[in-house]
Amino acid sequence: MNNKTKISASVLAADFTNLKSELNKVNKHVDFYHIDVMDGHFVPNITMGPDIANTVKKITKKKLDVHLMITNPEKYFKTFNMADSITFHIETGNINKKISQLKRMKKKVGLAINPETDIKKLLPYLKKIDKAFIMSVHPGFAGQKFIKSSLKKVKTVKDYTIKHDLKTKIEVDGGIGPSTYKTVLASGADILAVGAALFRNKNLPKFVKQVRSFKF
Ligand code: DX5
Ligand code: ZN
Repeated sequence: MNNKTKISASVLAADFTNLKSELNKVNKHVDFYHIDVMDGHFVPNITMGPDIANTVKKITKKKLDVHLMITNPEKYFKTFNMADSITFHIETGNINKKISQLKRMKKKVGLAINPETDIKKLLPYLKKIDKAFIMSVHPGFAGQKFIKSSLKKVKTVKDYTIKHDLKTKIEVDGGIGPSTYKTVLASGADILAVGAALFRNKNLPKFVKQVRSFKF
């Protein structure tokens, strides 16, 4: 298959003591920036909000993907109006209403699913969303180990999109690096959200080149 893989840089893994130089380091290698928003309730960690998202946008000028790992994400959709795409979790319920709200805001819609949630729950929404967003770690922290069973979920979504002739993209998030990217791409991912393997990688250009040139 042609490799048109997109890379979304997960800012959570950056060194915040020097955010500007961290972003400048990865900027020419990536397509988008991924902003992990956590509330200490939906996940056991608290991270960043709209101020950091706006700062990233100012520094880089690239499109932002906001990943909302929060309860009641709809309360904050408008707060993240700077984003090109907004992803919320299927586990938060009332999916159709949330999709409509984001569409009215003209945002690309991502629907995320946690490792322990059955992928069958996501399939009925595929025709209505822009991105199926498959978590390959338990959301909460950057730098965790990739959960292999998520590959099967990627394949299930890919097969469904082919069967139903859908253009829905597949994004995978968590634990993606030099030893895992090949199987993720070969399973059908279009977009990789990557944190540690970009910001904490001494050989970042080599890794990005491998990802972009991998034939599968
Ligand atoms: C996990 C976040 C991920 C994570 C990715 O809760 O949603 O975006 O920061 O970072 P790595 O690639 O380091 O797992
Ligand atoms: Zn994320």
